[in-house]
Amino acid sequence: MTNKKILITGASRGLGLAISKKLCNDYQLILHASSPESFTSTLPNSELMFADFSDPEQVTNFCKQLKKEHGDSLYAVINNAGVTFDNSLIFQPEKAIDAMLNVNLRAPIMICKTAMKIFSLSKEGVIINISSIVGQTGNAFQSVYAATKAGLVALSKSLAQEAGALNEEHNIRVLSVSPGFIETDMTSKLPETEKEKYLKMIPSKRFGKVEDVADMISFLLSEQAFYVNGTNIHVNGGLF
Ligand SMILES: NC(=O)c1ccc[n+]([C@@H]2O[C@H](COP(=O)([O-])OP(=O)(O)OC[C@H]3O[C@@H](n4cnc5c(N)ncnc54)[C@H](OP(=O)(O)O)[C@@H]3O)[C@@H](O)[C@H]2O)c1
Repeated sequence: MTNKKILITGASRGLGLAISKKLCNDYQLILHASSPESFTSTLPNSELMFADFSDPEQVTNFCKQLKKEHGDSLYAVINNAGVTFDNSLIFQPEKAIDAMLNVNLRAPIMICKTAMKIFSLSKEGVIINISSIVGQTGNAFQSVYAATKAGLVALSKSLAQEAGALNEEHNIRVLSVSPGFIETDMTSKLPETEKEKYLKMIPSKRFGKVEDVADMISFLLSEQAFYVNGTNIHVNGGLF
């Protein structure tokens, strides 16, 4: 157990909860969700933070609190919180477009800004932005969601390069991880016909489990991955 702290956003369920369970015996965790009611279980070595990322003002306050309370020991950030409102762009309400842009892209950008400031002083740190395979392939009825996820890949690569441009010697890494089809609340809403269509496209012949992604995050944070930087890692069973 180290006293290094890791922020995991969207830690109340799905991938975020699985990542938190995987890491809670090795690191101090700062677990985020949109509200206190979202957490139904407690994990060891963890403290909680709340903010609705669809509201830019709450994001600003969240970042200030993160820096003030954890700025001296923050080691990593997993930007995992995300939402999708699947719809044809023609019919997509502006409110849903703004929510996806704010939660999936604006909030991670602001949290990266805070983390990069902290890491530039300590000369070490890891940011992992949770993207999605659709950020690279596109997906009908997920145009805005896919755009936010593509944005996270570009954000991560740019920040990795920026850390190299600003520092001679450092151990700051910025990565994105793109899950394929993982069984969570987000994918449970899909119609059975859609699920069957995806299953046919997965060479590993099964949907992903949250633990498949949590294992990858754990590896990327470890010393074994110290030379993995500025890239996007797929965890998708070969989905094409
Ligand atoms: N599941 C997949 O197949 C899949 C595939 C590719 C990428 N991903 C990405 O992986 C990440 C996690 O997905 P998941 O399937 O685990 O989703 P999920 O089960 O729906 O959980 C979403 C998490 O995001 C948080 N969140 C949602 N809206 C928020 C808001 N307005 N403000 C703050 N937090 C908010 C939720 O917190 P509350 O509980 O407080 O609402 C929850 O912790 C997302 O970024 C998603 O895009 C998932």
